[in-house]
Amino acid sequence: MSIRYFKRRRVRSALLLSAVLIIAMLPFRWIDANLWRTEEASGWTLLLAIIVLTLLALRKRVPTAPLGRVATWVQVHLYLGLGSAALALAHVGWKWPTGWLEGSLYLAYWGTFISGVAGLYLTRTIPKQLARTGEQVVYERIPRLRRLIADESQRSVVNAVAESGALTLANFYQSQLFPYLDAPRSWWYGLRPTSELRRKLLGELTSLNRYFSAAERTAAERLFALVRKKDDLDFHAAKQGVLKGWLFGHLCLTAVLVLLSLAHMVTVLAFRGGPG
Ligand code: HEM
Repeated sequence: MSIRYFKRRRVRSALLLSAVLIIAMLPFRWIDANLWRTEEASGWTLLLAIIVLTLLALRKRVPTAPLGRVATWVQVHLYLGLGSAALALAHVGWKWPTGWLEGSLYLAYWGTFISGVAGLYLTRTIPKQLARTGEQVVYERIPRLRRLIADESQRSVVNAVAESGALTLANFYQSQLFPYLDAPRSWWYGLRPTSELRRKLLGELTSLNRYFSAAERTAAERLFALVRKKDDLDFHAAKQGVLKGWLFGHLCLTAVLVLLSLAHMVTVLAFRGGPG
């Protein structure tokens, strides 16, 4: 499918969303004109929207249920999620609500909304960055794959020492390469992964090449490949970790939002003095 198709589809969807929002706002104008409480109608509609948005979590947990494609649910989620901002503004107006419950609820709503928009960016960009690396890996398997790489590197170096008796590679491996190959990266790398360390290590390995014996040279070639593989794993761990962390945050905010919405609904129903 061409980029132009996607652009056209996006413009069509945005126009559709605008039309739906304008139509959705009409009843509020009518309700206003008829002196019934606008906040009540927009409040119920917003609560319904939040419930539908939250249901995506359940839909994703039962992918085989005959409830429409998950991809369609996600599309509906994105447009409804963005559209819900208009409902929130219609419900509260351009001011910060008074009262701790309402204030916290509004904060939870905008927190969820903003995290959703951030997630839209992350879920659209990270998979493309991951696709550019050699191999695709499952997040949960990364520690095991890291272990295998460290083990294989160790074996290559031990064999080279046994074959040639030379220690140039072994010394470099012990002081520089093993700590890198054996451990996960820092949390800072997790936020901003770069290939700087990989380039530095490979550069040092290359500059030692002229001192290596034949057996060490063969082992060094294998180490080159293993360092690259390990770097790709670290990149996957960092980027997939960000996606997982984001989703967890979005879900936690959703849970807070739903609880506060229900508490708000109960207090409104308990204290309301009849319609109008
Ligand atoms: C404001 C109310 C919102 C609520 C209550 C909400 C809730 C949720 C829930 C429950 C999930 C499913 C998480 C899971 O278990 O996998 C989800 C996923 C997601 N949400 Fe929201 N969301 C909201 C707004 C938004 C907005 C405004 C956007 C962006 C425009 C957005 C973007 C996403 C994305 C990209 C996903 C992941 C979809 C996927 O798995 O491909 N959300 N959201």
